[in-house]
Amino acid sequence: MYHVSIQKPIILTGDRTTGPLHLGHYVGSLKNRVRMQDTHRQFLLLADMQALTDHAHDPEKVRRNVFEIALDYLAIGIDPEKSTICVQSGLPALAELTMLYLNFVTVARLERNPTIKDEIRMRGFGRDIPAGFLCYPVAQAADITAFKATVVPVGEDQAPLIEQTNEIVRRINTQIGRSVLVEAEAVIPRVGRLPGIDGKAKMSKSQGNAILLSAGPQDIRQAVRQMYTDPNHLRASDPGTIEGNVVFTYLDAFDEDEAAIAALKAQYRRGGLGDMAVKQRLEAVLQELLAPIRERRAAYARDLDYVRDVLREGTRTARDVTDATLQDVRAGLRLFQLDQGRRVHQPPELTP
Ligand code: TRP
Repeated sequence: MYHVSIQKPIILTGDRTTGPLHLGHYVGSLKNRVRMQDTHRQFLLLADMQALTDHAHDPEKVRRNVFEIALDYLAIGIDPEKSTICVQSGLPALAELTMLYLNFVTVARLERNPTIKDEIRMRGFGRDIPAGFLCYPVAQAADITAFKATVVPVGEDQAPLIEQTNEIVRRINTQIGRSVLVEAEAVIPRVGRLPGIDGKAKMSKSQGNAILLSAGPQDIRQAVRQMYTDPNHLRASDPGTIEGNVVFTYLDAFDEDEAAIAALKAQYRRGGLGDMAVKQRLEAVLQELLAPIRERRAAYARDLDYVRDVLREGTRTARDVTDATLQDVRAGLRLFQLDQGRRVHQPPELTP
């Protein structure tokens, strides 16, 4: 069919609404999303239901961050005319698909998922794992397949979830006997993950080692001052190490003047370049990057009615898409259709 050949590939990606986004999100995925909204049909899911799987004790935080992340999206240049921003809890088809998919996954398979294993360990759940948490990969499979997404840009840690999604897709399609669902491909950014300002492998708000997209000039300054460098580089004249030196890692990620950075690195290695000078350069780069984002974010924050409209419209569009998939799956799995075909209860024959 003609219109199929010109259709853009469908992207679904999303964020748990547990905290505002930071520079790690920016280099890892947000920048790509802004680019890909021109070449793809892109859906961005504010995953508040998934956030509840480990934040059921703090629903207020989960709700607040639906808005915070929407503001982050708009501030970095996600255009609601090009991308569809939607709220997971406003899409009941996702919950229904999750229930259906759960029958095509074993508990053993869920427990073997390396992402989940790590996360369970990190959260210290022990044996007290919320069932919703153990099953969230199935809910995420519902998210991805409901949109018929073929491209899922995610961090490296999410790759096992896409694998599990595709297993479910194959099982459901086999059961139904035709390809109702499509397999998806994880697109993992080539740039490595941005470390926290303390040098820990992962930037995370809960670790207190993040620079938020909404950070003010003072927050940025302070974060750069605190940044982990080479602990043995005490005087400017000492030779220093670049590897593991967060300031240089960030310069690589954010300073576009590669030649200048290469020269700075050489000088630092030789000795004769103080941490303060390098940090000043990085601070200037980050201030310049974040100032316009912060200003746009503040402007949208003054117009929450607009943001609410964006979410309402986006969620409505997403509802049509996800409901359609649910209907296909329901029909394929031979679920009883109340309002189709013959009536269930024939009225009793009237006996004369
Ligand atoms: N699990 C993702 C995260 O940790 C969020 C998410 C929920 C998601 N549903 C998704 C990502 C579907 C990609 C596709 O942030």
